[in-house]
Amino acid sequence: MDVKTIGIIGCGLMGSGIAEVAAKSGFQVLIREQNEQLLKKGLGRIESSLGRAVAKGKLSAEDKAAVQTRLSGAVGLDDALATCDLVVEAVTEDAGLKQGIFRALDAICPANTILASNTSSISVIDLAAVTRRPNQVLGMHFFNPVPVMPLLELVRTVQTDDATLDSARAVGERMGKKMIVAKDAPGFVVNRLLIPYLLDGIRVYEQGLASREDIDNGMMLGANHPMGPLTLTDFVGLDTTLFVADVLFAELGETRFKAPTLLRRLVSAGHLGRKSGRGFYQYGS
Ligand code: 3HC
Repeated sequence: MDVKTIGIIGCGLMGSGIAEVAAKSGFQVLIREQNEQLLKKGLGRIESSLGRAVAKGKLSAEDKAAVQTRLSGAVGLDDALATCDLVVEAVTEDAGLKQGIFRALDAICPANTILASNTSSISVIDLAAVTRRPNQVLGMHFFNPVPVMPLLELVRTVQTDDATLDSARAVGERMGKKMIVAKDAPGFVVNRLLIPYLLDGIRVYEQGLASREDIDNGMMLGANHPMGPLTLTDFVGLDTTLFVADVLFAELGETRFKAPTLLRRLVSAGHLGRKSGRGFYQYGS
């Protein structure tokens, strides 16, 4: 399948990043959000990111204009999505919500459209199973910030066929991503390794072994990580980290995946990290 048009469902941090990279790579991109306010916010995020690229001389003003002509947005799941060769769902980590979207996309899109999810933890086969095309469903797991992080983790279920994987790989290559292929197992590869590390960083802080700055500096200066575990958890989102940890713990039962109480309490308090202005650190005014 030669993918030309990509639908992106959800224009949050991940959806807007995927849409931006897809449009920059020459694909026609149809963005769908659940309401006008979220759509405006998501398109605004893409606009500022493209603006920053122009200001830094990484993108010409003409190329920015061309990218924008390839991007369009609307509210709801409509029949225009039938023009998509690939649809990437990037909504909140909620299995029921995602299944509803997959069911709707399966009804709208022609039989050859590939359906992908950017899920970081939900089993992809549970999304494929609500469609009549489970062989054409896979995970396309991008990393935040999508325009910067080189990796695309392709997640193959027991039913994903070779042609679907090849088409997704061709899309990733055109986006300039490096790919790894993971089985549809909890956390795939990266989150299976990353989440317990973040949870341990929180446990070290919770147990008072060092200050948050020293924990972060320890891993930045001693292990060459671009961000320490607490800053990275703020960046990923405390709610997302907790959600993925709970899925991993429920499915694998190992204590290394058990969320520390501090993480759970901070999420209850609405301290979700950078996006809410406060997590382990305070952001903005
Ligand atoms: N959009 C576009 N470009 C961005 C960006 C964004 N949101 N954020 C940073 N950049 C660009 C900058 O423009 C800059 O480009 P330049 O070098 O060409 O000028 C470059 O990235 C470096 O940015 P900065 O100099 O501002 O800042 P840093 O050097 O500190 O880099 C970072 C920022 C790239 C975010 C770096 O700190 C990093 O790599 N952190 C780790 C991120 C990470 O691990 N992400 C994965 C999270 S896990 C995940 O997403 C999976 C999920 O399922 C949980």
